[in-house]
Amino acid sequence: MSGARRARASGPVQRSVEVDLGERSYPIQLGSGILAAAGGEIARHTKAHHAVVVTVPGVGRRYAPRLLRSLKEAGLRAHRVEVPDGDATKNLTQVKRLYDALLARGADRHSVVVALGGGMVGDLAGFAAASYLRGIPFVQVPTTVLAMVDASIGGKVGVNLPQGKNLVGAFHQPKLVWIDVETLRSLPSRQRAAGFAEVVKAGAILDLGFFEHLEGEGVAEALMDLDPEVLLPVLERACAIKADVVARDEREGGLRMLLNFGHTLAHAVETLTGYRKVLHGEAVAMGMVYAARRSEALGTTPAGTAQRLARLLQRFGLETELPPFARSAYLTALRVDKKKRDARIHFVILRGIGRAETLPLTLAEIAPAARRGGAKRRR
Ligand SMILES: NC(=O)c1ccc[n+]([C@@H]2O[C@H](COP(=O)([O-])OP(=O)(O)OC[C@H]3O[C@@H](n4cnc5c(N)ncnc54)[C@H](O)[C@@H]3O)[C@@H](O)[C@H]2O)c1
Ligand SMILES: [Zn+2]
Repeated sequence: MSGARRARASGPVQRSVEVDLGERSYPIQLGSGILAAAGGEIARHTKAHHAVVVTVPGVGRRYAPRLLRSLKEAGLRAHRVEVPDGDATKNLTQVKRLYDALLARGADRHSVVVALGGGMVGDLAGFAAASYLRGIPFVQVPTTVLAMVDASIGGKVGVNLPQGKNLVGAFHQPKLVWIDVETLRSLPSRQRAAGFAEVVKAGAILDLGFFEHLEGEGVAEALMDLDPEVLLPVLERACAIKADVVARDEREGGLRMLLNFGHTLAHAVETLTGYRKVLHGEAVAMGMVYAARRSEALGTTPAGTAQRLARLLQRFGLETELPPFARSAYLTALRVDKKKRDARIHFVILRGIGRAETLPLTLAEIAPAARRGGAKRRR
C-alpha cells in the first residue's frame, strides 16, 4: 500500500500504522492496556508542555485519571475538561465553552488538546484545537470502535448546526492517534457492533482478503468479545485502509468518497428516524446491503454479493434491512442530504467484494422502490 505503512511497534505498543502525509504524517498506535503509557508518547509527538484532555463524563470517569497521571508523569501540566455526552452536544456552544476553558487554563501553542472519547468528542475537541489560536496540536485517544477505525483518522473535525450535521468544520490532522483496546470493555455491545459495520465496510470497498478474514469462523464473534488476539490485527488493518485512503486523498478528491459506501441511505435512515433509534453504524449496515443490492441490479457485482455482506453483518447482530418508510419519505430525506445542487449523487456501488466505485445516479434511481402492498405504510 502506498499511503499507510505498517510501522514498527515498540514498548507497550503492539501495532502501529503510519498516516503518510509528508511533514504532517502521524502514527496510529494500538495496544491492549496502553492508556497509562500515553503521556510520554504525547509529549514526544507534540513537544507540548501542557495538555487539556477533553472528554464526556462517562468516559472521563473511567479513563481520564489514568491518562492525566501519565501526562503528568511525562512532565506536562494536565487539565481535564468535560462536555455533555450526546451528538446534540457537538455544537458551537460547546466549542465556545472549550475556548473559554483553554483560555482559563492558559493554553497556548505549546499546549495540546487530547480528545478522549468517541467520534463526537474527537470532532468537537479537534475543531476547537483547529481554530483556537489558529490551530494548536491535537491528539486523538478514541474509545469507541467507530472512532478508532474511522473518526479519529483523517483530520476531519467539526460540529453540527441546527440546520444539519457536520456543517462547520476544518481539516486538522492529529499528531498521534493512541488506541487502547481495553477501553472498549465498557462500550455497550450495540455500540461495538455499529463500529464493526465500518470495519466490514473497509473490507467490502477496498480489501477482499480482509473481508474474507472477517468472514472466517469465529472471527466476528471474537471481535464482539474483544479478544485482543483477533481484535488488534483487525483494527490495525481497518486503520491502515482508512489511513491509506486519507494519505492518497486528504481532501476528498475521489478515493475518499468510496468511504461513503452505504452512507447515502444511512443518512436518509438517520434523518427519518430523527437520529434516535438507529446508531450511525447500524444505519450504515442497512445502507451497505441496500447499495450492494442496487449494484447487483445494475449488473456491476455478481448476484449474491448483498447476501454475503448481509450474512457477515448479521453475525455482529446488525440489522440489514432498511426500515419500511415510504419511497416518498426516502426521496425527501435523500434530498435533504444532498449538499450540492446537481441532479445526481455520487452513489458508491460495488464491483464485487473488495472493489468499489462511484456512479452518478439520480435520486429516483437511488431511492428504494415502493414496496408491494406497502405504498401506504405507517409513519
Ligand atoms: N471526523 C470523521 O471523519 C468522522 C467519521 C465518522 C464519524 N464521525 C463522527 O463521530 C461521531 C460518532 O462517533 P461514535 O460512534 O464514537 O459516537 P459517540 O462519540 O457519540 O460515542 C457513542 C457513545 O459511547 C460512549 N462511549 C464512548 N466510549 C466509551 C467507552 N469506552 N465505554 C463506554 N461508553 C463509551 C459515549 O459517551 C457515547 O454515549 C459523530 O459525531 C460523527 O459525525 C466523524
Ligand atoms: Zn460512517
